[in-house]
Amino acid sequence: MCGIVGYVGSKDSLDVVLEGLRRLEYRGYDSAGVAVLADGRLSTAKKAGKLANLEKELAEAGLPASTIGIGHTRWATHGGPTDRNAHPHVSADGSVAVIHNGIIENFAPLRAECEATGVEFSSETDTEVVAHLLAAVYAETPEGSGRLAEAMRTVSRRLEGAFTLVATHAAEPDTVVASRRNSPLVVGVGEGEYFLGSDVAAFIAHTRNALELGQDQVVELHRTRGVTVTDFDGASVEPTAYTVDWDAAAAEKGGYDWFMLKEIAEQPQAVADTLLGRLGEQGELVLDEVRLSDQDLRDIDKVFVVACGTAYHAGLIAKYAIEHWTRIPVEVELASEFRYRDPVLDRSTLVVVVSQSGETMDTLMALRHAKDQKARVLAICNANGSTIPRESDAVLYTHAGPEVAVASTKGFLTQVVACYLVGLFLAQVRGVKYADEVAAIVEDLRALPDQIRAVLSSMDPVRELARSLATEDTLLFLGRHVGYPVALEGALKLKELAYIHAEGFAAGELKHGSIALIDQGTPVVVVVPSPRSRESVHGKVVSNIQEVRARGARTIVIAEDGDDDVLPYADHVIRVPRTPTLLAPVVTTVPLQVLACEIASTRGLDVDQPRNLAKSVTVE
Ligand code: AGP
Repeated sequence: MCGIVGYVGSKDSLDVVLEGLRRLEYRGYDSAGVAVLADGRLSTAKKAGKLANLEKELAEAGLPASTIGIGHTRWATHGGPTDRNAHPHVSADGSVAVIHNGIIENFAPLRAECEATGVEFSSETDTEVVAHLLAAVYAETPEGSGRLAEAMRTVSRRLEGAFTLVATHAAEPDTVVASRRNSPLVVGVGEGEYFLGSDVAAFIAHTRNALELGQDQVVELHRTRGVTVTDFDGASVEPTAYTVDWDAAAAEKGGYDWFMLKEIAEQPQAVADTLLGRLGEQGELVLDEVRLSDQDLRDIDKVFVVACGTAYHAGLIAKYAIEHWTRIPVEVELASEFRYRDPVLDRSTLVVVVSQSGETMDTLMALRHAKDQKARVLAICNANGSTIPRESDAVLYTHAGPEVAVASTKGFLTQVVACYLVGLFLAQVRGVKYADEVAAIVEDLRALPDQIRAVLSSMDPVRELARSLATEDTLLFLGRHVGYPVALEGALKLKELAYIHAEGFAAGELKHGSIALIDQGTPVVVVVPSPRSRESVHGKVVSNIQEVRARGARTIVIAEDGDDDVLPYADHVIRVPRTPTLLAPVVTTVPLQVLACEIASTRGLDVDQPRNLAKSVTVE
């Protein structure tokens, strides 16, 4: 998830682009860069780190005055957060500058094709291949108006994956073109000036007139001809015009009141992006970035998953999946406890450290202990190039994009999905699952983004329920099997957002003491497994609902569509789509995120920055 800005008009393009990047920096802050066009030449400046680093460099050595330019803030996926990998990327002949948001799945063969023609690459990114391809195609595209747009269509037809591309060419001082598939892009229309942005925050200071772009479309902004939109085959398209009624601050939150709400809404795309490029055409898993050999993975006889807080809950879910798919024993450990209990580790142990920020000190110290004990360490992380993946033997990045809210939501769901990928990959490499079995589970993973969307589309009753719970001072959460970690996560969300005492329990454990907590009207949230789950776990949880209801609890039940067994004992039923048992947490967690967020909001609290908390806990 990167920040993208494009401009052509009469203003100083560097000023306009930098201002847009400042408003988009929340979308990525691994590096930033700009390109402007003046006197037939492209000039670029780019710098690793926050936008301020680039601005400092530009203050010392500016760029030529120009009224056309593009800019980018990066959230690294392919290639670390370095100056070399910062966008824009420029073609070998210096004629094309391009910026990109997304993942080009087939960049490797395209890069090989370019290298075979003698092109030397200067970065590790997937994006650079587009700069070289676009320059080569442009040179072969007939002269005339719309030449750069035609070249962009030709190149876009060859790309697979998710991309928003914005490009300029030294020979076209009046034109910026862009192409989009699966990544966001919006057009701003001013008075004799035109803008491109990842979202309207990029240009809302200049115009509220926007054009919505659809899938597989190319847009040309021309200083005098205005906006032209086509599909990838060149057929004209009429974009949908709309007026932005947000203020600038709201625009950065995508119109939501809180970043957390925006990030909850981004979960389908975040899960889809985390799967992108990792599911092969034959249904196999392709985890090239996991730099452990097949033999290393076959030698593994024990797995530890080590993490903190919400990431620890993802690890608890991972245990069920990895053990079921691979038959390797899995222990899940709180990072802050791990090294003090002197765990038994050796070269046949795989330690999976899970961290959204990649900077959590407890997890980092656990990683270092594991390395000292010669265990192999795989990081699951959302922050490319952060300390934890840098010190690990291998990494599987979640592609959730920056998570601004302190309470993790899309970070969590993508951690769970990445854990599934690790477990399934282990099973595939070790031959414990046949290819068709892996392919079947891969198909189930592909369905997850739409299932999350289905849940998100039916959250109004949950928000209404939340408002009725906002005055409660305690809530209990119950779950069994993979529903138990979901119960723990639901309780944590409520604690950290609404400051309400909440506790998650294994549903079967409640009768061993904690059921004494149940009083008349005590709200109890129960995460019910699928009726198709093994060993009638479902029936036992329905019994648990009866137990607490009989003692006066107000029961709030999360149950699969069509599960009517719960109805006699549920004061409130929240429906989720049917999913395979092990994948259910990806949908059952979402209502709990919304519930906690709405309760906190109703209580007038700061949802994005709860008291006492930090987004990354870099102390032990
Ligand atoms: C998430 O809602 C919490 N704010 C917190 O528990 C977090 O998950 C934990 O601190 C671990 O952070 P990490 O994933 O960045 O390592």
